[in-house]
Amino acid sequence: MPGIVIVGAQWGDEGKGKIVDLLAERADAVVRFQGGNNAGHTIVREGVEWKFHLIPSGILYAGKRCIIGNGVVIDPKVLIGEIHALRARRVDVSGLKVSANAHVIMPYHLLLDQAGEARLGKLQIGTTRRGIGPAYSDKAARLGIRIQDLLDEKILKKKITAALEPNRLALRPYALDPSLDLHAMTEQYVSYGRQLSEYIADTSRLVWDSLEQDRLVLFEGAQGAMLDIDHGTYPFVTSSNPIAGAACVGAGVGPRDIDEIWGVCKAYATRVGAGPFPTELTDEVGERIRETGGEYGTTTGRPRRTGWLDLVALRYAARLNTLSALAITKLDVLTGLDQLMVCTRYLGAEGAVFEDFPYHQSVLHHATGEYTELEPWSEEIGECRSEEDLPQAARDYLSYIADFIGVPVALIGVGPGREQTIWTPAGADTLVGRAASLASS
Ligand code: GDP
Ligand code: IMO
Ligand code: MG
Repeated sequence: MPGIVIVGAQWGDEGKGKIVDLLAERADAVVRFQGGNNAGHTIVREGVEWKFHLIPSGILYAGKRCIIGNGVVIDPKVLIGEIHALRARRVDVSGLKVSANAHVIMPYHLLLDQAGEARLGKLQIGTTRRGIGPAYSDKAARLGIRIQDLLDEKILKKKITAALEPNRLALRPYALDPSLDLHAMTEQYVSYGRQLSEYIADTSRLVWDSLEQDRLVLFEGAQGAMLDIDHGTYPFVTSSNPIAGAACVGAGVGPRDIDEIWGVCKAYATRVGAGPFPTELTDEVGERIRETGGEYGTTTGRPRRTGWLDLVALRYAARLNTLSALAITKLDVLTGLDQLMVCTRYLGAEGAVFEDFPYHQSVLHHATGEYTELEPWSEEIGECRSEEDLPQAARDYLSYIADFIGVPVALIGVGPGREQTIWTPAGADTLVGRAASLASS
């Protein structure tokens, strides 16, 4: 019954797509459990790039069961677009299943997201403007439209009627005069329902079936721990819980179904959007990391802010998620730097020192990193396929992280390609790792 959760351990864009694609080879099913098309997960196979926003990163295996769980908010137009794009590239998407209980992003959610950000001006969160926050708000307010509602025109119209007025009112202060027409909207969304009907299912039951049959199930997180609405840098967060605990809620399984929790973490830090970022580099080193790492948003194309690896935040993420393994990605991007730092404590006002991630927003907003300098390396590592191939300084860097966090490094990313990955002995000894050796024996 192995359930493996894979989550972002920083501010998102850690390389979850690549890791999930890699591990999905050994899994029966891959389940997205939160977020929406604010996510952008990249996979590079044989030099060909794939980007997924809603569809789980296991879809490139023909017929693989890929589930969009109840915890996800779905923009049906985007989902249908993704399905068509995959089909056009001759990908077999017959394994795709969409939870009947997942909530739907409506046109007024997009308008509210955009208007809300515009109104905040300098204080804006820097959302992806995909309607994520307003859709989750309506879910909590019990005004949400669910995927199953798209299958019944009468019910759908009733639900849109109930949601439309409060949303119109919410839009009024923004002086928008949106043409939110009940009939046109119902027609449009019924049409989406028709196009998606073959994929809609009781996905919680499907996941349970796989687990019951002792098959491996991967739960794919979006975003990252520091963007968690409860535990991240609120209000500069997303509107869901990207941490591992949410996999149970967002997929419809119990906590005892989870056996391992992998945190994906870049060898440095990035953040896209506003909010505190204690190790941010605004100098030429930060610029160099952005260019070498291709740090531009997968979803919005925005340049990502870059910084040194923040071990204070990573240790916090390891605790929140009870991480059992780390996948460290983009180690290759650090090759050739003259100086290499990791943040091991935060410094606050008046000489205050913080060993742990501070809960208080004012402290966090003013925190800067205190750094430990580690030995840089200059060798290209993109061709390395085992730990022994790596320069000693790179190995020391990884050991330092694992020791500091108290979680073993299972996988190391040395390039965007699927094959540019190193399994460590600790990784080989995980449930997924052992499944790999079973598969190849
Ligand atoms: P996700 O949202 O966590 O799936 O990550 P994104 O896809 O948004 O961003 C990660 C980017 O880094 C993508 O362009 C990946 O192709 C790329 N990537 C992943 N792992 C590595 C790695 O080990 N090295 C390098 N150079 N790039 C990587
Ligand atoms: P993946 O899954 C990085 C950020 C946005 C913004 C904040 C709120 O690819 O790692 P939202 O649109 O969710 O209301 O925006 O969260 N954000 C992400 N940053 N990676 C993501 O997803 C993100 N999804 C949302 O930039 O700061
Ligand atoms: Mg991304």
